[in-house]
Amino acid sequence: MIKLIWAEDQEKNIGYQESLPWYLPADLAHFKRETLGHIIVMGSKTFDSLPKVLPKRVHWILTHHPDKYQDYFTNPQVKIFTDLDQLKKAIKNCQEDIYVIGGKSLFDQVCDIADQLIVTKIHASFKGDVKAPMIKEQEFKLVSQTQFESDEKNKYNYEIDIYQKLV
Ligand SMILES: NC(=O)c1ccc[n+]([C@@H]2O[C@H](COP(=O)([O-])OP(=O)(O)OC[C@H]3O[C@@H](n4cnc5c(N)ncnc54)[C@H](OP(=O)(O)O)[C@@H]3O)[C@@H](O)[C@H]2O)c1
Repeated sequence: MIKLIWAEDQEKNIGYQESLPWYLPADLAHFKRETLGHIIVMGSKTFDSLPKVLPKRVHWILTHHPDKYQDYFTNPQVKIFTDLDQLKKAIKNCQEDIYVIGGKSLFDQVCDIADQLIVTKIHASFKGDVKAPMIKEQEFKLVSQTQFESDEKNKYNYEIDIYQKLV
């Protein structure tokens, strides 16, 4: 199954200045639980925003400039793609669950092959410069919605919504 996973605020912001606009450790833990042991697909800006290569995940990165990732050429956890069609073919040929983790440019370009959207909706507003993709109601159906309360470590209420592609 091809899954897109992201977190957005009330204004649909997902990023600000090449980073996440918020700190919500519970959502980072949710992201880890979902993606652990799987292939994660991303644009170069999202990869550059990660603190490091994430353990126990294989990173597929789309870029026009593969040379900037020379250091990773022999890293079995990293695969560089320079062609969107080849990336989409590889995603579709994948026999296991695969997660597209952003950013917006990747979501927009692979949304047409997604089976499921996993969206954390944070009940707060932040400064942002990158927006979440549009979810087309005629293409995706909300199948699950779980609410979470803020606590001492997580300052914001949020929900996790799952949308399934309509056949
Ligand atoms: N809230 C969330 O869940 C979430 C998730 C992910 C990211 N984010 C945030 O979103 C922001 C980044 O998103 P973004 O949309 O600006 O960037 P992005 O999708 O992460 O990366 C864009 C880059 O991907 C490469 N690329 C895209 N399409 C391509 C194509 N067809 N062929 C070859 N290369 C292609 C290009 O890299 P080159 O320039 O190297 O050629 C492009 O500059 C950051 O603020 C990040 O923190 C938020």
